[in-house]
Amino acid sequence: MNKNGEENHGISADQLVGLLIEMEQAAREEIKASSQPKDLLRIEYLGSKSEFARLSHEIQHVPKTDKARVGILINQVKQSIEGFIENTANRRLTVDNLQRFDITLPGIQPPQGHLHIVTQAIMEITRIFERIGFTRVRYPEVDWDYYAFEALNMPADHPARDEWETFLVTPPWKGTNKDKRFTSIVLTPHTSNGQVREMEKGTMPIRMINIAKCYRRQSDVSHTEMFHQFEGLYVDKNVSIAHLKGVIEYFVRSFYGPKRTIRLRPFHFQFTEPSFEIDVTCGICLGRGCRLCKEGWLELGGAGMVHPNVLKAGNINTREFNGFAFGWGVERTFMMKSGTKIDDVRCIYGNDVRFLQQF
Ligand code: FA5
Repeated sequence: MNKNGEENHGISADQLVGLLIEMEQAAREEIKASSQPKDLLRIEYLGSKSEFARLSHEIQHVPKTDKARVGILINQVKQSIEGFIENTANRRLTVDNLQRFDITLPGIQPPQGHLHIVTQAIMEITRIFERIGFTRVRYPEVDWDYYAFEALNMPADHPARDEWETFLVTPPWKGTNKDKRFTSIVLTPHTSNGQVREMEKGTMPIRMINIAKCYRRQSDVSHTEMFHQFEGLYVDKNVSIAHLKGVIEYFVRSFYGPKRTIRLRPFHFQFTEPSFEIDVTCGICLGRGCRLCKEGWLELGGAGMVHPNVLKAGNINTREFNGFAFGWGVERTFMMKSGTKIDDVRCIYGNDVRFLQQF
């Protein structure tokens, strides 16, 4: 019996510590010389029948006052052997690999990403319009209500605003702005906010293509809350609907191929007069009529001759100049390409790599 009244099996704490340290050193030597895989080494040196396990059990015979100290050492020895097995085995693997390395083999290609389909579409649209003298511009995507609505012939409380289902932004200041035009802020619901901003630059003629993010409170198979539009604006002397039709036909043939054509359907926008919806012949039946399009036409987006009130808001002399504008969704325009077979616009922003890899 020791002084704590416990039965003594003939091993003191210091003896056990000495044995554990000796065992660890011997194990390291053997592991270094061994060619066994990691798993077998772990069983041999730390498994239930190992010397380590046998010595660890001896802790039950150590006086209570020393148990904590010896317990800590047992854990340290275990971790040290584990780490040594891991490192030694890994090093052996690398040496083996080096010896077997065949420098004549082709390398393993890392997976390669590509530009998102919306970015690809934006680049293609930009190139097509640049070829006929349009310049890509960018305007704020969080903008004054004035540019998004008021300057576009839609004063406050005008019912036409409802169609745009707009997100409003609380201005980060208190009180009102001195310039009454600039008081409320919106997430731009369309790229038409660029029209008056472009006119305010005062350089004529205008051939602008404004591509940007737009936001609306809409989400279903053909709507996302964030999407992109491209807005064309041409202002010059004696611009006619024939010019509008020519530019749109040129775009459609360049983007979709020479077999596709367009039609103009009367419509209403507050900022164009007359206004049109542009339809393009379906890429599947080429205008004959099929299950997708029913009558052979798919809707592309809006267009029209710029309303005189909008030109006036942009300080343009309406007796001298007039123009046309059009604004279409990038995602929908892309979806109408033959062979894309995207039946839900939300897939484009689902971030599923299996979907994106197809394009
Ligand atoms: C407009 O936004 C007008 N500003 C277009 C315009 C510009 C007309 C210049 C005349 C002159 P509309 O609300 O129809 O029009 O939107 C145009 C296109 O944007 C739609 O045809 C569609 O392709 C795309 N679009 C609109 N809302 C969404 C949405 N939530 N998700 C994806 N695409 C959308």
